[in-house]
Amino acid sequence: MDFAEDSALLRLTDEQRMLRATVRDFAQREIAPVAAELDETGAYPAETVRRMGALGLMGIEVPEKYGGAGMDALACALTIEELARVDASHGTIVSVNNSLYCGAILARGSEEQKREFLLPVASGRQTGAYSLSEPSSGSDAGAMACRAELNAAGTHWMINGRKSWVTNGPVAERLLLFAVTDPAAGNRGITAFLIDATQPGLTRGRVEPKLGIRASATCELHFDNYACPVDSVLGQPGEGFRIAMSVLDAGRIGIAAQALGIAEAAFAASVSWARQREAFGGPIARFQLIQQKIADMKIRIEASRLLLHDAVAAKQRSRKTGERYTLQASMAKLHASETAAYVTDEALQIHGGMGYSRELPLERYWRDARITRIYEGSSEIQRLVIARNVLEVR
Ligand code: CAA
Repeated sequence: MDFAEDSALLRLTDEQRMLRATVRDFAQREIAPVAAELDETGAYPAETVRRMGALGLMGIEVPEKYGGAGMDALACALTIEELARVDASHGTIVSVNNSLYCGAILARGSEEQKREFLLPVASGRQTGAYSLSEPSSGSDAGAMACRAELNAAGTHWMINGRKSWVTNGPVAERLLLFAVTDPAAGNRGITAFLIDATQPGLTRGRVEPKLGIRASATCELHFDNYACPVDSVLGQPGEGFRIAMSVLDAGRIGIAAQALGIAEAAFAASVSWARQREAFGGPIARFQLIQQKIADMKIRIEASRLLLHDAVAAKQRSRKTGERYTLQASMAKLHASETAAYVTDEALQIHGGMGYSRELPLERYWRDARITRIYEGSSEIQRLVIARNVLEVR
């Protein structure tokens, strides 16, 4: 089953339609046949990621001169949605690479940093990751302990500490890392660093055995006297927390798109199951209790799409005005992730015993949906951000 070709908010250009058709076709041909196996083994899909890079999907909003596809925020959201309809892990890999890593350097990087750190990742030759969380600081991101100190010669920042839950961490050659440079300054004592993860002083922990998005590799990172050249600071020292937060605004749009894609996949399966599955002498689609579920799933999905497209439009405006789109991104992420949880749960219910079986992808959608309410800011943090923005309090 298909979904709205255009939303009430955004009309797709021919280029965006073509991109969506390309991604849909790629996902069906290349990812769908291996999605269940990747989920089973938890193997990182290096080959399909390489092919996504060749299609320009690893740097969608990055100008061509820096290795990207030179498209816009809607193109990026459509891509993540299409991938997640087939496999949420691919959606995560692309979302983090595009929104959290490339987006940050595009917005704040110097020309040299764009050449060295953006170009190889946007072109898909290397992979990027974003490293903010630590074992003892997740929602309270400003409470991080990972420390960077300037060496005596003033040439390098020496980084020591542990980071956790780093998506793409096991495979990334490049990282955007946040560490404390001035412990007395609180949030204003955090700095953003561009890290070459192939250099000594950085080791990676075991790949996390996760409930869902199992093909997206996640791990801890251990920094032990990692020497980062001073010209690899992104923005200014002390600006790291604000960079981390503004980048997460874009990341949360990506997660909203991922959640929407998962919900759409579960919904489409439910519609066709309701039409085919017979009980009490006919298809279960004729029962009002099933119809109620379908109606409630549909309306939440379409509301999620509207919020997502509203956030995308705000992000595109922000390119010109510099205005923040924090509120729109958090609303889209919160609604879409809670919708994904609701829809995948109802889809499993509609499928009954078959929904619980690993023979169908329903239980995978249900497990994959769960993370969207946790990462890049939990549902509780989104509510806090939304309320603070509305009430204008801190
Ligand atoms: N854009 C720009 N600046 C922002 C901002 C934004 N969206 N949000 C806050 N800031 C700025 C504020 O203006 C303020 O700046 P000044 O110091 O200049 O006044 C500064 O940042 C501090 O802001 P707050 O006082 O609001 O900060 P806080 O400590 O109260 O924290 C929070 C706010 C919303 C709770 C924040 O810590 C947060 O979002 N936490 C969740 C973190 C998160 O999402 N982690 C996920 C990590 S990534 C991941 O999941 C793994 C992965 O690989 C995908």
